[in-house]
Amino acid sequence: MAPRNTTLFCLVFCLGQKIEAQEGHFPIPTISATPGFVIPWNESVKILCWGTPESYLYQLEIMRNSTYEVVEEKLRFQKAAEFIINHMDTNTAGRYRCRYKKQYSWSEYSEALELVVTGLYDKPFLFADEGLVVRPGENISLQCSSAHMAFDRYSLSSEGGAALSLHQNGRRQGAFILGPVNLSFSGNYTCYGWYSGSPYVWSAPSDALELVVTDTTNQGSAMENAIRMGVAGLVLVVLLAILAEHWHGHQTPHTDQPDVPERS
Ligand SMILES: *[C@@H]1O[C@H](CO)[C@@H](O)[C@H](O)[C@H]1NC(C)=O
Ligand SMILES: *[C@@H]1O[C@H](CO)[C@@H](O)[C@H](O)[C@H]1NC(C)=O
Ligand SMILES: *[C@@H]1O[C@H](CO)[C@@H](O)[C@H](O)[C@H]1NC(C)=O
Ligand SMILES: *[C@@H]1O[C@H](CO)[C@@H](O)[C@H](O)[C@H]1NC(C)=O
Ligand SMILES: *[C@@H]1O[C@H](CO)[C@@H](O)[C@H](O)[C@H]1NC(C)=O
Repeated sequence: MAPRNTTLFCLVFCLGQKIEAQEGHFPIPTISATPGFVIPWNESVKILCWGTPESYLYQLEIMRNSTYEVVEEKLRFQKAAEFIINHMDTNTAGRYRCRYKKQYSWSEYSEALELVVTGLYDKPFLFADEGLVVRPGENISLQCSSAHMAFDRYSLSSEGGAALSLHQNGRRQGAFILGPVNLSFSGNYTCYGWYSGSPYVWSAPSDALELVVTDTTNQGSAMENAIRMGVAGLVLVVLLAILAEHWHGHQTPHTDQPDVPERS
């Protein structure tokens, strides 16, 4: 009787615990923005908050005056909620976070997402002290500066398609040392100027600079490869010629016609 009781007890108790554990399972939501977190003024951006399929209420908050306030809520069972900002401006730029509700409780907050609006000041100028063609392992210095604006911060970004992959904040002088570089540093770079008092409001992007990282030894091997291919091609031609000759030799005895006139 006793073992049966324990089994029954476990069936009730353990099951209860399992349900409780599931209820208590609240993964931290993740927040992201497409096409990215650096958005030109008046353009749109989509903020995604990822929760769980059982989440039915999502809340997006923005930091204003060092406290967060709710921007928008989405009420519907969905594993991710979409918040759209149609016209990016200085009021919609800032630090965001989100959370979701499941059963009767809220999840924790996501990490912060910092959305930046660009194009509020004239573009700065980006230039390289030395050439824009560098070898892997070398360092390159890019300078960002403005003739008219007294920016106290600069950011540099590299574009791989539409995405901004590199983002660094410079000091007053706006000098960015990249390196030691590798081939993946090749690409177009732009910089922005801003003021530390308004960190989410940036200038228009500078004109792009194209950085080229080339591996000269790779070029050498490319040349070698070309030569090898050439030799292989030549061998093939010779083989074909021999084959043709051979085939010709076999064909001639069967033809009634006399030999084709001599090539000369
Ligand atoms: C802002 O963008 C909308 C289209 O999304 C456009 O119709 C409008 O003219 C733009 N406003 C300004 C001031 O450029
Ligand atoms: C932020 O706080 C300051 C002073 O504490 C106040 O003057 C200002 O109106 C507040 N701004 C907003 C948007 O709440
Ligand atoms: C590149 O910079 C690193 C420090 O970031 C330094 O250790 C290294 O010596 C530099 N390399 C060259 C080739 O100047
Ligand atoms: C190039 O350098 C970056 C940053 O140092 C590194 O994350 C990346 O893995 C490197 N790529 C290659 C192909 O070595
Ligand atoms: C850099 O920009 C130029 C002009 O827009 C483009 O032709 C080139 O393909 C870009 N380079 C890379 C590596 O994306």
